[in-house]
Amino acid sequence: MKKILPLTHGLRGEIEIPGDKSISHRAIILSSLSNSHVEVSNFLAAADCMSTVKCMKALGAKIRQSGEKLLITGQTLHEPENVLDADNSGTTLRLLMGLLAPQKFLTTFTGDTSLRKRPMARVIQPLTQMGASIVGRNSNKNLPITILPNKKNLRGITYQMPVASAQVKSAILLAGLFAETPTTVIEPAPSRNHTEKMLEAFGVQLEKSGNAIKIFPTNKLIAPDRIFVPCDISSAAYWIVLATVLKNSNIIIRDVGINPTRTGILDVLKNMGAKIELLNERTSGGELSADINVVPSKLRGVEIGGEIIPRLIDEIPILAVAAAFAEGTTIIRDVSELKVKESDRLAAIVDEFNKISPETFTATDDSLIIRGGRKKIFAECKTHSDHRMAMSLSIFGAAAEGVAFDNADCVKISYPNFFDAFR
Ligand code: S3P
Repeated sequence: MKKILPLTHGLRGEIEIPGDKSISHRAIILSSLSNSHVEVSNFLAAADCMSTVKCMKALGAKIRQSGEKLLITGQTLHEPENVLDADNSGTTLRLLMGLLAPQKFLTTFTGDTSLRKRPMARVIQPLTQMGASIVGRNSNKNLPITILPNKKNLRGITYQMPVASAQVKSAILLAGLFAETPTTVIEPAPSRNHTEKMLEAFGVQLEKSGNAIKIFPTNKLIAPDRIFVPCDISSAAYWIVLATVLKNSNIIIRDVGINPTRTGILDVLKNMGAKIELLNERTSGGELSADINVVPSKLRGVEIGGEIIPRLIDEIPILAVAAAFAEGTTIIRDVSELKVKESDRLAAIVDEFNKISPETFTATDDSLIIRGGRKKIFAECKTHSDHRMAMSLSIFGAAAEGVAFDNADCVKISYPNFFDAFR
């Protein structure tokens, strides 16, 4: 059991956070497809991205880690000798399914207990429509999944996505890169656009119109020599919330990615009354970043839903923590996607967070309701082996009366040295 004590003296000073997980995955994958050398700096050397490194190496890429830098030399992809294990990483699995669907060789994927439960039909369906042959276990098409060698080239399609998902969108775009004709993917609401931005940085032609993205196939990616990965706003969010709710705090977090498809958490916290200031805004590799200063403030409940949800989907657990300290009720609608994350986060939030703040959190089929301002107590909770639950529980406990939880090691998925800040 990991125990987090209440942080009574406030959170102060500069907080260093790791590189962006989504951008790191994409940097590894696209750099592995070009024939030149790429140096990826501030790469996230956490378990999820290492799963992508391991899979890309098995497919032939030359990847070497040197400190927080990755040196990548792409090669023509070849058939892996063994099953590819994506471990806990939905991003690794779904993006690589898109990349491998057009290839002339066989690949079989597996993953850990959590990933083996997650829905893959949402990726298999559009890729099959493009002409790929993919088989999965049972009617939900769960892992293990095999992609059969592709005899003919894939055909471009126009695909209206039923859910806003960057992983599904990226899988289709990566498959579209190798198709015979252009592919258009239309999202119900914009999800993170790092794949599009990085494809463009590699010279791929894309056309965007509203929520539609059209990719023009090419077999030649022109890699930049260097890619700088900004720090992960999803990791910064934990400290932004803690500094907001904890008296005497004043923090600065540098080089945080503030791509507008990821900043829903800042918009909502500011609407709740948070004092968050963005300094030194700049662009690097097509991605916006800034330094973020946070001081404490009183929060009030808000109602959100619809288009903003994909812009803060990974921050809902920590937003729920913030809402527990707000005055009034917060309602977060349209969050059924939370049920198919690394754990069923909708159920996990209600089951675990109520142990710290009783009668605060309730859920319907697709909403989360948080009655803020109620009494907080010390509690023993479960992480459900979900990194975002472990980090959100830590912040909740630190801002309240402390917390203990199992399986703290799961933070290694996205933020290996998360607990250092509590020392
Ligand atoms: C991610 C997309 C999101 C997010 C995940 C990372 C990505 O998932 O929850 O942590 O890097 O593309 P969905 O695509 O399922 O929304």
